[in-house]
Amino acid sequence: MKRPQAALVTGAGGALGRATAFRLAADGFGVAVLDHDADPLERTVEQVRKAGSPVLALTTDLRDAAAIAAAVDRTATELGTLRVLVNNAAVYPSRPFLEVPLAEYEEVVAVNQRAYWVAAQAAARHMATTGGGAIVNVASITVHGGWDSLAAYVSTKGAAVAFTRALARELGPQEIRVNCVSPGAFPTAAEEIHENPEVYTRHVLDHQALKRRGRPDELASVVSFLAGPDSTFITGQCVEVNGGWVMS
Ligand SMILES: NC(=O)c1ccc[n+]([C@@H]2O[C@H](COP(=O)([O-])OP(=O)(O)OC[C@H]3O[C@@H](n4cnc5c(N)ncnc54)[C@H](O)[C@@H]3O)[C@@H](O)[C@H]2O)c1
Repeated sequence: MKRPQAALVTGAGGALGRATAFRLAADGFGVAVLDHDADPLERTVEQVRKAGSPVLALTTDLRDAAAIAAAVDRTATELGTLRVLVNNAAVYPSRPFLEVPLAEYEEVVAVNQRAYWVAAQAAARHMATTGGGAIVNVASITVHGGWDSLAAYVSTKGAAVAFTRALARELGPQEIRVNCVSPGAFPTAAEEIHENPEVYTRHVLDHQALKRRGRPDELASVVSFLAGPDSTFITGQCVEVNGGWVMS
């Protein structure tokens, strides 16, 4: 009997990760949902179950490289053939560059950059021996400039774009596609870094071509496309999902 197909989504306790996990489950994948925060992860599990696919909850700290590799291996062992990895988790402390302590910078790099690397390497080792797969890295509109007090975050998101291109080139021969989505401003916990939500919403709508806020499922559907059978000749690309704020 053919093994089921599995997908792993990091940062799945957050709104964009949750929507992505739900969408991949609806697409038919067994979905492993990973976060270090158990309560929101449990809400994700409840929601993903409604899509009718098997779910595996992985309460894992992405600062721990060995734990990431173990989580990837559990996904492939317990859920099915690992076909999809979505590197979605991120931290985004906001502070003027001159005041950022080194430890804070290092934490941002550990979660937003090093964990993407470790998860991709562990996942690609499975995919390379089982006929290929798709890795989707989540970047950010902020790489285009214009955001203050986020230098560490923005530099890791730039790294996600460059990492995507480097991996796509290297893993193409194994039929592993590597792409990137770059979200604009979605109304999630990430917005709590802005002091005045109404002012920020006005700012967003002034800049977007579409005069409404984006919904998490509108990012998830792009991840689903890049992870699935309708994009089998696309690799090394970064798709901007921002309501027409930045056009490329
Ligand atoms: N929301 C936006 O407007 C926006 C814009 C641009 C990019 N993004 C990107 O989209 C992705 C998802 O963002 P979101 O808005 O859902 O954010 P979020 O903060 O709601 O979700 C991020 C998740 O990552 C988890 N996480 C953080 N550190 C972790 C660690 N050490 N180990 C395990 N899990 C950890 C958090 O617990 C959280 O559940 C991120 O990569 C973010 O940079 C979001």
